[in-house]
Amino acid sequence: MRRNRHDAFTRRLVAENALSVDDLIWPIFIKEGIGEPEPVASMPGVLRVGLHSLARHVEEAARLRIPAIALFPATPPEHKNAQASEAVNPENLICRASRVLKAEFPQIGLIGDSALDPYTDHGHDGILREGYVANDETLEILVRQSVNQADAGIDIIAPSDMMDGRIAAIRAGLDASGHIHTRLMSYAAKYASAFYGPFRDAIGSAGAFKGDKKTYQMDPANAEEALHEVALDLAEGADMIMVKPGMPYLDIICRVKEKFQVPVFAYQVSGEYAMLAGAIERGWLDHDRVILESLLAFKRAGCSGVLTYFAPTAAKLLRA
Ligand code: PBG
Repeated sequence: MRRNRHDAFTRRLVAENALSVDDLIWPIFIKEGIGEPEPVASMPGVLRVGLHSLARHVEEAARLRIPAIALFPATPPEHKNAQASEAVNPENLICRASRVLKAEFPQIGLIGDSALDPYTDHGHDGILREGYVANDETLEILVRQSVNQADAGIDIIAPSDMMDGRIAAIRAGLDASGHIHTRLMSYAAKYASAFYGPFRDAIGSAGAFKGDKKTYQMDPANAEEALHEVALDLAEGADMIMVKPGMPYLDIICRVKEKFQVPVFAYQVSGEYAMLAGAIERGWLDHDRVILESLLAFKRAGCSGVLTYFAPTAAKLLRA
């Protein structure tokens, strides 16, 4: 076996998978009313940016030819309430940011998150009725939120809330409003994970949030259920599938890809980033190698691409 590993040229020839800039999606945190970007404490190297510095922030991604970015809003407490009304405001931060970015960088794909947690005062992804997240009532809001985002220039709607039936509902809403080209990237297998902690800090949904999301996100014990979720979302019209978190769920990615020959994406989430970036910062892990290895693992598992906070760093390393 070692003859084929003997020198670099043979290793290149026999390599089964490769990571390229075309595989990278960069999630970005946007915050209302800030001038200079501010750091996210639990995610070393990640920033929250205001609308004014957004174009400057994205310029590098454009230069590196990162194909797409995913936008997440940090909403001030005064814009949050029980109905998540800011989610359906056509002038909300995400819609304004999309218009700016679409005009400035028409070649970059824009991914909008469809979920209510940035906008609810309790931090859940839907409307609460007696402590339970109401599915169908939430769907109506998700549809309006998605159509607004498509109106504002979002190319791909990525529903991350795990309500049942949302893909069919959003597809119908988009089609009815003429957005026939808007794609749906479904967070089909999204687990109720402890690895989302730093994200909730970053968008400011951690404060009021109590408890967990186990009544709608998946149980980390389950794998077959993920295949069921994916089958339903594909039948409802999902164009692309996502598995989340990433690294602890490579088995799920692999099984989904084996069963369904569709584009599958992974989200290397905030907690995974924090683990790697924290260890890199302390000098415990090698920056370049560990970032690229962690991302290549997703390609080996069968992913078409990866949402990763390392996207600009990885793009630079891949170009070098
Ligand atoms: C919420 C949402 C979450 C993430 C993306 N969208 C967190 C959650 O479900 O509580 C997590 C992303 C990350 O941790 O990087 N709709």
